[in-house]
Amino acid sequence: MTAIDDAEETVGPTARLPLSAAMRIGSQAEHRDAEGSSFMSELLAGRVDEQGYADYLLRLHAVYSAMESAVRARADDDTVAAVHDPALERLDAIEADLRHWSPGGRRVVDSPAAEAYRARLEHAAHHGRLLVAHHYTRYLGDLSGGQAIGRILDRAFGLGGQGLAFYDFPAIPRPKPYKDAYRARLDALGLPTHQRDEVVVEVRTAFRLNLALFAELGEHLASYVRRDRTPG
Ligand code: HEM
Repeated sequence: MTAIDDAEETVGPTARLPLSAAMRIGSQAEHRDAEGSSFMSELLAGRVDEQGYADYLLRLHAVYSAMESAVRARADDDTVAAVHDPALERLDAIEADLRHWSPGGRRVVDSPAAEAYRARLEHAAHHGRLLVAHHYTRYLGDLSGGQAIGRILDRAFGLGGQGLAFYDFPAIPRPKPYKDAYRARLDALGLPTHQRDEVVVEVRTAFRLNLALFAELGEHLASYVRRDRTPG
């Protein structure tokens, strides 16, 4: 089934909301699942080792590489143009972090979940508004909970800010007004209801693809147990 077909799935209570609110509210259940994933919980508790975090970054590398090239290729699409901003791009930051977490390590990953995510992004690349759903799911997340995640990792690993470029947006010093303006641009698109519903459904798809990344990493938690951790 394509995303366009998927949109026939009911969007329920989000039906009359502005696009940005529909995206947020329409994906609340998936967001809670992402927050509660065992890999995320263990990572934020400081119980995942360097290899585990590097494996997470490698998956993000595959995802952002596909998403950022698709966004650049479709930057002239009106819907994509509303959100496209090179200041958001994360690929260089992920590469810098990988040099910290996995010096000399390979940049390819055998990950069915990352491959499925990449394939979905390639599909979305042909439909600007679907690409916007992926753009929102990753970057607004990075500018929201992602900021707290960066601080928690810094403390848990005693990093002194090293290896955390992914969470640092030097050209976006104040995420809150940036996110407000981003949402306002989404709302100003004035998409007809059926297209808006497609976007909301694709946001849910994007969340599920992220959940699948976490589930895959969660299968390796036993091998990621951090042994050099100071108790307490
Ligand atoms: C432990 C994991 C996570 C935590 C603690 C977390 C926390 C948060 C918090 C507190 C906000 C609200 C910030 C605000 O009001 O501005 C937020 C927003 C958001 N998060 Fe997460 N999050 C997590 C994981 C994720 C994941 C995995 C994704 C998707 C890949 C994601 C995507 C988003 C998005 C898109 C928003 C913006 C919602 C909106 O305002 O439209 N989050 N997150």
